[in-house]
This record gives sequence, C-alpha cells and structure tokens, in this order.
Amino acid sequence: MLTNFINATYIAAGLMFILALAGLSKHETARKGNVYGIMGMVFAIVATNFAIAYTDYANHNLQPESAAMLYAALAIGAIIGVWKARKVQMTGMPELIALLHSFVGAAAVLVGFNVHLDHPEADALHMVEVYLGVFIGAVTFTGSLVAWGKLNGRITSKPLTLPARHWLNLAALVVLGLLGWWYLVTGSIVALLLATVVSLALGAHLVAAIGGADMPVVVSMLNSYSGWAAAASGFMLDMTILIITGALVGASGAILSFIMCRAMNRSFISVILGGFGDDSSAAVDAEYGEHREASVADVADLLAEADSVMIVPGYGMAVAQAQYAVAELTEKLRKHGTKVGFGIHPVAGRLPGHMNVLLAEAHVPYDIVYEMDEINDDFATTDVVLVIGANDTVNPAAMEPGSPISGMPVLRVWEAGTVVVFKRSMNAGYAGVQNPLFFEDNTVMCFGDAKDTAQAIVANLPQLEGVR
Ligand code: TAP
Repeated sequence: MLTNFINATYIAAGLMFILALAGLSKHETARKGNVYGIMGMVFAIVATNFAIAYTDYANHNLQPESAAMLYAALAIGAIIGVWKARKVQMTGMPELIALLHSFVGAAAVLVGFNVHLDHPEADALHMVEVYLGVFIGAVTFTGSLVAWGKLNGRITSKPLTLPARHWLNLAALVVLGLLGWWYLVTGSIVALLLATVVSLALGAHLVAAIGGADMPVVVSMLNSYSGWAAAASGFMLDMTILIITGALVGASGAILSFIMCRAMNRSFISVILGGFGDDSSAAVDAEYGEHREASVADVADLLAEADSVMIVPGYGMAVAQAQYAVAELTEKLRKHGTKVGFGIHPVAGRLPGHMNVLLAEAHVPYDIVYEMDEINDDFATTDVVLVIGANDTVNPAAMEPGSPISGMPVLRVWEAGTVVVFKRSMNAGYAGVQNPLFFEDNTVMCFGDAKDTAQAIVANLPQLEGVR
C-alpha cells in the first residue's frame, strides 16, 4: 500500500517536472511552470521521506537518529535556500546557479563513495554507475566552482591557456579510462580516489580555459552535467525520481546550451575547448571617429515626434534596474498613440530570458515583446530605437569578419531612423569589443545610468500628455 503511494507520488512528481519545463518555455506560462516545478519538488521530497522513514529502503532501516539528522539537514537547507532566494539580485543569478550545480556534483561524488563502501560485492553494472557518477560529479563540482568564481570576479574571467592544454585534457581522459578499467577489475577504492582527483582537476581546468563571454553557456552546460550526475546518483540509489529528474535537467541543459551557442554563432565544441575572449582577440580596436551626444531633453523631443519606437534592452538595464522606468516610458508613449515594441536578443543580459523576466516584473505587456528573429526586419521602418544598456547584442561588427564576435546574430538597430544609446560611457560590453554603432551618423549617445536617464525622460515628456 505504502509502496504504491510512494510510486504514484514519484510519477506525479515526474509529470509535474515535465509540465514545469513545458510552462517555462513561454513567458505567458512561465509562472505556472514554476508552480508545477515547486509542486513536483514537494511531491518528490514527501515521497522520498516516506520511502526512507517507513520502508526497508535500499536495504536500510532508518534509525530515529538518522531521521532526525535528515530532517535537520532539510530544515537547514530550506532556511539557507529561502534566505539566498530572497537576497539574490537578478544579475547575481548565474553565479548562484553555478554554485548550486557544484552541490549536485559534490552530492554525486559522495553518493558514489557511499554506494561503493556499502556494496563491496557490487556487480559490474553497479560499479560502472559508481564510477560514472563520481567522474561526472567531480567534473561538475570543480567546474561549477570555477564558473562561480569567474562570474563573481573572484577568479579572472580571462581564459587560462596552458601550453598543450588540449593534450592535458586528452591525457586526463586516457588516465580516467585506465583507472576505470582498474576499478572495474579490482573494485579498488584507490582507483576510485585517484579517478576523483583527476576528474576534479579536469573539471577545474576545462572551465578555467573558457573566457568570460562564454561563461553563461558553460553554466548551462554544467546544469546539464549536474542533471546527468543526479541521474547517475538515481541509478546508484535505485531511485526512479532522481533518474527522471536528472535526465530532464541533463537534456534540457544540453538543449539550452545548444540554443545559446547558436545565438552567439559559436560551435558547442569551440566553447568547450575554450580560449575565446582572451586579450589578443578582444584588443582589435579600430578608429571609428567621433560620437555624438544628446541630452535628455533632446531625446524627449525626438520621442514626442516619433510614430514608432523600438526599445532594445541589455545587461545595463538589469544593472540599473531601469525596467520600471522603461515600462512607465512605454506606457506614456503608447497612451500618446506611439507604436512601441521591444526587441529581445536571445543572449541579452547574463542569463537566458533575463530581459523577459525584468520586463514581466515591470508589467510590460507580453504582446509587444518580440524575439530577435520576429523583429529584425522591422528596424528599417522604425523611427527611433532606444538601446538601453545593450552593447554586444547590437554591435554591427558582428556582421563583419575579423571581430571576436563575428558571426553572432545581432539586432540590426542601425537600420532605424535614429538610434539613441543609453549607457554610462564609451566602454565596451561583455565581449570587450568596441561598438561601431556608437559612431554611426544616425546614432546619438545619452550618457548616464539607464534608470536615471529613463526617469528623466519620463519627467521631460509633458508634451506627451493626451493622445495625438
Ligand atoms: P553587454 O554587451 O554586456 O553591454 C552592457 C552595457 O550596459 C555595457 O556596455 C555598459 O556600458 C552598460 N551598462 C552597465 N551598467 C549600466 C547602467 N547602470 N546604466 C546604463 N548602462 C549600463 O550587454 P548585452 O548587449 O546585453 O550583451 C550580453 C553579453 O553577454 C553578450 O556578449 C553575450 O554574448 C553575453 N552572454 C550572454 C548570455 C545570456 S544567456 N544572456 C550568454 C552568453 C553570453 P557602460 O559601462 O558604458 O555603462
């Protein structure tokens, strides 16, 4: 009876996770998707607790002290989780996610050693599961820690390019293969320990070799690894829900990494092999001439005259938390009868969907928020484009050969009548390359913090009162 209840709850949890992924694929349904995900997690935790507390789960009768430890760990984890979730800024999400992935990796390594020590007579299949779980877990653990350090600036974001680094990685894989063979034949814990050390070093080296600009792809890739590590733990523990969840995370992380690579026109292999974003490639600084500046009042006048306005947000909008002021400006323009739309680049900001989340938070209607492919041909017929803290994603140099971002699809904002760029200086964006857009004849720079600028423009738009 209890076993049926537990199995049914696991199936329900699996279904909830699938519904969560489906919901998260569109912004209209993302909130619902999150609710499904939370429900799935609650089901999984409840069923697992029943399984551990009341059955001879994985051949262990749980003692009351162990149950107490389990619930204490759950409570402490929940408190830290809630505290972190409330505290984290949207811009700090990628590094938090990277840190969380490292926990999954560490857990897979610990589960692997635990299963090894508990089942000295394990068959070959179980040993393969243990070995793979420890290998993937260890790579995920150190890889995620290095990604976390790079994202929060504790470690330099420049790629570490050791001489013969590809050979080093290959050598590590060969050694891991040999250690795996040794482990399978003898079941020696020394082989497993050595494999852990080599995997830890491999994970750190793989991610250290990747430059800052590719870090979000790496985080998504590590997300996928953490899923496979969880699935491996599921096999080791005979826990179906962990296998299902791990496989869902592993597959969706891999698909997301692929989509991001395509949006940056980088091959998945070149991202993994690293080396992108080093000084030599970023330092191609050309002379583009003079830029022109516009005051807040100039921009307000321009907007008052425009029939169509397209807003292109980027990372700077997130840093400045300018989304509310931008939403207010949008509302004012629309009330005035101006056609307003938003053009969203797939890798604008620092994590997938970053801009969509911010705009949803500020209640910008979904139906005026367009993806790059939907909107790119419309810039040519747009009067004014407001580029709000975006840089690489609107860089025309991406369309030319010879730039470090060559080939990355970009929003062709320069085709519009006038382009106004809100940023604080002439500094480069994430990829560290100068942007010729800022020097185009139809571009004006409006310097300052994006939120202050947007608020000042709203305040400077009394002429927009009433419909034209
Ligand atoms: P970026 O190229 O990073 O440029 C952001 C700009 O915002 C900067 O040039 C900065 O200029 C400006 N800024 C910063 N703080 C500001 C503030 N308070 N007020 C006004 N402006 C401010 O942005 P993007 O166009 O969104 O491009 C994203 C980059 O991240 C791309 O290189 C992309 O490849 C990379 N990336 C993203 C992802 C995902 S999933 N989103 C994945 C991989 C890579 P100032 O310093 O002059 O103000």
